[in-house]
Amino acid sequence: MSEQQLFKVTIDNITIEVAPGTTILEAARKIGGEVAPPAMCYYSKLKGSGGKCRTCLVEVSKGSEKDPRPMPKLVASCRTTVMDGMEVKNITSERVVDARAGVVELLLINHPLDCPVCDQAGECHLQDLSYEHGNAGTRYEFQRRTFKKHDLGQYIQLHMTRCILCYRCVFTADQLTNKREHGVLDRGDHAQIATFIEKNLDNDFIGNVIDVCPVGALTDKTFRFKNRVWFLKPVNAHCDCPKCSGKVTLWYRGEEVFRVTARKDQWGEVEDWICNECRFDKKKTSDWVIEGPREISRQSVISLNHYVGMQKPKETFEAVMDGRKPRMFMDIHDVSEVNRPDVDLSLIDGPAHSDDFNKTNKKD
Ligand code: SF4
Ligand code: SF4
Ligand code: FES
Repeated sequence: MSEQQLFKVTIDNITIEVAPGTTILEAARKIGGEVAPPAMCYYSKLKGSGGKCRTCLVEVSKGSEKDPRPMPKLVASCRTTVMDGMEVKNITSERVVDARAGVVELLLINHPLDCPVCDQAGECHLQDLSYEHGNAGTRYEFQRRTFKKHDLGQYIQLHMTRCILCYRCVFTADQLTNKREHGVLDRGDHAQIATFIEKNLDNDFIGNVIDVCPVGALTDKTFRFKNRVWFLKPVNAHCDCPKCSGKVTLWYRGEEVFRVTARKDQWGEVEDWICNECRFDKKKTSDWVIEGPREISRQSVISLNHYVGMQKPKETFEAVMDGRKPRMFMDIHDVSEVNRPDVDLSLIDGPAHSDDFNKTNKKD
């Protein structure tokens, strides 16, 4: 069998070889770090996702080896496949940096200032995006959009004002559950996530929409307002579940499990989908086999105070002084009279001062 020919693509001056059909975004993720464009709607595990939010825009400065003309407009990297010899600029392009700031401004135009009370705060992709690519102020002077409240049932809370219409939850419900009940209704400024008629979302796997939502539009009612994520300690655990993988992250504060989520990879995507029962009903340590602490990116606020794999700094003094402790370097008795055998500090009334050492405060 002949080996598949690979395409060479250069992104931010780093060249990599990928299979034909790979998108620029996936190629950039192979390089990793800042070269990978942010993605608010693309989700590698969901078919048809991407192409909605425009946060992943990149500049194609050379189309391919055969046709080296640059692409005139910035392109969505999650929807554009690589060509052999293609050259792409992400963070090295001023046009991209400028356009991304514009996209963030647009995403935030109607967004409420809910971060202090929003359950997603601390693990919100929109917060990260705004911090890394956004502008400090807004030029928007009109009243922000509001929506009629939709009740999605006992487990999931919808805050439509925070939704960025990425469609991930719609694809999740469509592809993971066998009874899809919600979608994007209306168009343009009125577009909203809703059930077709006032209905609960009660499929076995519907809880996964909470994990795929990049913002705090869909949150877990069993965890709502109970704690801030950075106070919780994530721990990997599994159980023998007949419905799902049973591989989860438990979020502890003290001995109490505050919430159960699926495990997420470095791109914030769910590794294995989990069922509603594991997510909402198993909130006791005895329900799980604990594996150990979940590794969290050091850049995340959640990693604060969680010292996993900590390496203590080497004691240089001890190493160079053949194991002698630093405090033994200087014998204080040589330079101070404080502990002179003839002065008993316990007999001094009040704090000691230099005169005490000149007095005849001697032991008998
Ligand atoms: S969704 Fe994110 S940006 Fe919006 S209020 Fe919640 S934490 Fe803040
Ligand atoms: S509710 Fe969340 S996942 Fe669904 S479209 Fe809105 S932002 Fe995306
Ligand atoms: S991630 Fe590419 S358009 Fe949203």
